[in-house]
Amino acid sequence: MEPRKLLSSLFYFSLLSLLSANQQVVDSAHHHHHHRHRHLFDFRPSKLFVFGDSYADTGNIGRSLAGSWKQPYGITFPGKPAGRFSDGRVLTDYLVEIGTALLLIAAKFVGIKSPIPYKFRRVGGKHLRNGMNFAYGGTGVFQSTSPLPNMTTQIGFFQQLIKEGVYNSLELQQSSVALLVLSGNDYSAYISKNGSSQGFPSFITQVVNQLVLNLKMIQELGLKKIAVTTLQPLGCLPFSTAASSFQQCNGTQNALVNLHNLLLQQAVAKLNNETTNDHSTFVILDLNTAFMTVFTNKGDHLGSTRFENPLKPCCVGISNGDVCGSVDESGTKKYTVCENPEAAFFWDTVHPTQAGWRSVYSALQANLQQL
Ligand SMILES: *[C@@H]1O[C@H](CO)[C@@H](O)[C@H](O)[C@H]1NC(C)=O
Ligand SMILES: *[C@@H]1O[C@H](CO)[C@@H](O)[C@H](O)[C@H]1NC(C)=O
Ligand SMILES: *[C@@H]1O[C@H](CO)[C@@H](O)[C@H](O)[C@H]1NC(C)=O
Ligand SMILES: *[C@@H]1O[C@H](CO)[C@@H](O)[C@H](O)[C@H]1NC(C)=O
Repeated sequence: MEPRKLLSSLFYFSLLSLLSANQQVVDSAHHHHHHRHRHLFDFRPSKLFVFGDSYADTGNIGRSLAGSWKQPYGITFPGKPAGRFSDGRVLTDYLVEIGTALLLIAAKFVGIKSPIPYKFRRVGGKHLRNGMNFAYGGTGVFQSTSPLPNMTTQIGFFQQLIKEGVYNSLELQQSSVALLVLSGNDYSAYISKNGSSQGFPSFITQVVNQLVLNLKMIQELGLKKIAVTTLQPLGCLPFSTAASSFQQCNGTQNALVNLHNLLLQQAVAKLNNETTNDHSTFVILDLNTAFMTVFTNKGDHLGSTRFENPLKPCCVGISNGDVCGSVDESGTKKYTVCENPEAAFFWDTVHPTQAGWRSVYSALQANLQQL
């Protein structure tokens, strides 16, 4: 008991000094840019709480369940499979910086690290201070997609930790940012179960409504800055473009994605409008525009990363039915990996590479600067 108490009071102390040190940074930044920016930032974030799926998961799924723990996942970072659905870092690892950029556009923030996966919550102490990542690959807002915890259940885990006193309401209000990442598992489950796209528009409405309920649940926990991603162009994922040898995005699918994003944007505007005192509580991270920008530029907007064909994945199954990471009974690889994952935007049939995510991050950042 005692060491834990000591730890938490030390932690509390460092939080306080962090907050007051920040106040100065914030005051001067705010003063400096008073005429140029809306008042987006009135606290220094030090914690990021992440909910969602494989675009954000940094290792929650058990080794026995996920392809992300198999070779060749993780070959670029950390050098071996570590539960990320990529050759290296994923959105969360970069968004730690975005989350803060959102809030403090002008001043450079250092200090938030990628939050630890929920799975490791028992380690305690300083490992909890960057927040926590509750995302599970393969999940959606509805349970139809996977036996793993859906977004509501993930938020329930967070509520439970708050009840246990792992995070207190001061921290939640004054130093926390939430990020909700939904990248389409509800829709792939719907397609595989229902086949036809007849009922799709009404299903999209249901998904967005549930996502909005989840945003409200986070707000009720006291968080003052809550970001949600738009849906990336599903019709441009290798999964869809394989039909055209990775040459063309599927416009029908992208039109449905645009409907999702339109409904989401309208709902978020409404949520902000209904939030008294702070009409910028909810923030959209426009992943869709960022993906499209990278595809159009064939790289990041700075020109430091080039993708010859951004639609072509790096790691591919050799024959039909094989996926990145499959092996046969004798352990022989049933997939190939491109020579340089840094030159590919997509890693497997749905997930970007580390270089892909880095360029998406860079496009997001450019957009945020125009806020
Ligand atoms: C999320 O999962 C829980 C547990 O399986 C289930 O009871 C609940 O209905 C699911 N939520 C939604 C919105 O589907
Ligand atoms: C499939 O369609 C039926 C009838 O329109 C609907 O009741 C059901 O919920 C749909 N399935 C999914 C996974 O949404
Ligand atoms: C695009 O996607 C739709 C819906 O999934 C599908 O019916 C259609 O065949 C696809 N088009 C092409 C050209 O692959
Ligand atoms: C915001 O709320 C006001 C008053 O409730 C309403 O008149 C207005 O239409 C709302 N705007 C949006 C974008 O929802």
